[in-house]
Amino acid sequence: MNLTELMTRRVVVCCGAGGVGKTTMSAAIGCAAAHQGIRVAVVTIDPARRLAAALGLSDLGDTPRQVDLGEMTGPGALWALQLDAKATFDRLIHRHAPDRAAAERILANRIYQHLSRAVAGSQEYMAVERLNELTEDPRFDLIVLDTPPAQNALDFLDAPQRMADFIEGKALRMLLSPSAAHGHLGWRMLHAGSSTVFSILERVTGAQLLRDLGDFLSAFDGMYAGFATRAAAVRTLLHSERSAFVVVACPDDAPVREAVALIDRLRTDQFPVAGAIMNRVHSTPSAHLDLGALRTAVMPISLGAPDDLIARINDQWIEDQVRADRDHDACVRLAHALGGHEILTVQELDDAPVDVHGLIGLANVLGAATDPPDGTHR
Ligand SMILES: Nc1ncnc2c1ncn2[C@@H]1O[C@H](COP(=O)(O)OP(=O)(O)OP(=O)(O)O)[C@@H](O)[C@H]1O
Ligand SMILES: [Mg+2]
Repeated sequence: MNLTELMTRRVVVCCGAGGVGKTTMSAAIGCAAAHQGIRVAVVTIDPARRLAAALGLSDLGDTPRQVDLGEMTGPGALWALQLDAKATFDRLIHRHAPDRAAAERILANRIYQHLSRAVAGSQEYMAVERLNELTEDPRFDLIVLDTPPAQNALDFLDAPQRMADFIEGKALRMLLSPSAAHGHLGWRMLHAGSSTVFSILERVTGAQLLRDLGDFLSAFDGMYAGFATRAAAVRTLLHSERSAFVVVACPDDAPVREAVALIDRLRTDQFPVAGAIMNRVHSTPSAHLDLGALRTAVMPISLGAPDDLIARINDQWIEDQVRADRDHDACVRLAHALGGHEILTVQELDDAPVDVHGLIGLANVLGAATDPPDGTHR
């Protein structure tokens, strides 16, 4: 995987198991891209504030916030944002409702309020809408998407399809488009013409619920096709070569297994897997420990007990060697899952990056060219 090539895409999706470094790598890729002259937005679906922390910011919201790149000058720019599913849903209503009054009616509706709160709990649906909005925003060349841990990442991938299935669902269409229901009791008919049925049901249920549902459905009438269209557009984009999926792992057994499963799943579903990053790799200690040289070196500081100190250093050396070998095997397993493609590795750092500067350093380790290319993006 080549980081510079990655930056020519429209969307880069970082996915992987929990805690492996997806957010850190998304932020690093974003910084590296900005450094290369690209206007990039890093968006996190993860409600935890890790992206803000990695960028050295106190907070992030749903509106893209431009990140100060310090002494880094040039055409590149970096924005960061954190998905707010409810805000995205509300904005969607404002944008796509036929008029302001209709939008206000939906937003005030109790069914909508319940639904939008439920949607806020399952971020994937609105992530699809948000991604669609961002790809239409002319400010950004590239969108880097930081996903929640693997299980949810798969949900995210399924979301466009699930949304399209739901919207194209026959039962829903029958309910929403009475004209398509051919002789069945369509929703509008029920709503407009059956106030008696309603009032009886309302008395039975003792609630305003049905009327709210009626208002909600009729207010939404006409907006459903838009959901399906946008979900399909995102699905097409994510399946195309304009997107790249980067699987992040760290060299422990479970994350590597999850990464391998994720690569298989992405490939089966024909998502473009660009490669993988193995994060937190321990480097190999010097190949040979010269005990004679070590004895000479430690003698002046060993306070008369050199053998003990040498034994401890030797044990540590063996431990580091075992860990480095284990990490190397994990890299081989991951590379094998990718069909032998090279994977990028990032060392275990003493201090994880907490600002743009640190992230650029990390991106340089990932293989980004330090000098901005003279050509333009794309
Ligand atoms: N190479 C590294 N060396 C040392 N610490 C690291 C490294 N990469 C990431 N970390 C630290 O590991 C922790 C987890 O990283 P991060 O939040 O990026 O993972 P994540 O995959 O996004 O987690 P989650 O699945 O919870 O969203 C953070 O505290 C981060 O600073
Ligand atoms: Mg994260």
